[in-house]
Amino acid sequence: MSEAPHGAPIKTPGQLIAAVIAGFAVPIIIIILLAYYVDNSTRTGAGTDGLSDAAVDARTAPLAKVDIRDANAPRVYKTGEEVYKAVCSACHASGAAGAPKFTNAGDWAARIAAGFDTLWHNALTGKGAMPARGGTSPDDYSDYEIGLAVAYMANNAGAKFEDPPKPVPGQPAAGPAGASGAAAASGTEAASGATPASGAEGASGAAGAQAAAAMAAMANVPQSAAPASGAAQSADASQAGKALYQQVCQACHAAGVLNAPKFGDKEAWAARLKDPIDTVYNYALHGKGAMPPKGGSNASDADVKAAVDYMVNAAK
Ligand code: HEC
Ligand code: HEC
Repeated sequence: MSEAPHGAPIKTPGQLIAAVIAGFAVPIIIIILLAYYVDNSTRTGAGTDGLSDAAVDARTAPLAKVDIRDANAPRVYKTGEEVYKAVCSACHASGAAGAPKFTNAGDWAARIAAGFDTLWHNALTGKGAMPARGGTSPDDYSDYEIGLAVAYMANNAGAKFEDPPKPVPGQPAAGPAGASGAAAASGTEAASGATPASGAEGASGAAGAQAAAAMAAMANVPQSAAPASGAAQSADASQAGKALYQQVCQACHAAGVLNAPKFGDKEAWAARLKDPIDTVYNYALHGKGAMPPKGGSNASDADVKAAVDYMVNAAK
């Protein structure tokens, strides 16, 4: 009798169905919503960027592409200026690694005197820190184009060279003539496109090796410079400056590694000395660009200034 006032809440079959559906459906809907919520940031599909043309292209791009060139198509040659700007300027614009500097007639005069064919040949085969073909492959720039770049550079430094003969399709390309016997042999090797890859690598490695040597010299600097510069302090300042220069600074400044103003290069130093000498001292003491503070040594301030004086005097 006590149950009489509490009527069961479900009285009709319709209410029963509704209660069952609600009992199952509500938790499931909540779970689905939670799952969406958790997964929110990583969803891909309609309505996201995942199906944009760019994203689909990126996902479905082939792993390797074949670049087909028509061997018979007339080849479009780059001009000497274009080759110079794309390749040679990396070293020749600044004179890095001892390269003859662009438009610097002094750097070029002796080389120009050797004649165009010698320069062309040396540019193809490499010379000292100059990598064969400036480090490019014969597929990128033909002998002819390298020759154009040589003429462009030399002519901008006072030469009056003619451009090398333009290759005629179907005929072997002309290479530098008049070089010595051995040189001519390697010249034709280069002309046939058979320059061994290791040759180019070795030569560009030489330029890299020079920079690496400078860095290695730097790494040794703090240990070796400390006692010596202490000893040098008692000697007169110019001796100390020269000693520190020889121990530390010349690693970069002798050859102009990393674009350091070269020892004795009036032009390079004149530009620097437009600043008051105290500013120049400060660059040497605290570093500037690739120039490490005190050249990477722990020499005294006085010795570093003396080394600057020594370098500045050598460029007067
Ligand atoms: C990695 C730096 C570097 C690049 C890039 C480079 N050169 Fe040089 N180049 C040098 C250096 C260093 C020398 C000086 C070599 C020597 O006299 O020992 C030099 C010298 C030369 C010479 C004079 C050779 C001689 O007989 O005295 C020519 C010509 C020349 N380069 C042409 C080129 C051309 C053309 C390019 C571009 C296709 C180029 N270089 C790119 C570093 C470079
Ligand atoms: C690791 C190579 C390296 C060493 C070692 C080195 N320098 Fe330099 N130095 C440079 C470079 C690179 C520059 C050019 C920096 C620039 O202009 O961005 C430079 C520039 C300078 C300048 C000119 C700053 C200016 O623009 O007025 C002075 C002065 C100088 N160095 C002094 C020294 C002295 C002194 C030592 C030895 C104690 C030394 N350097 C050792 C790389 C070096």
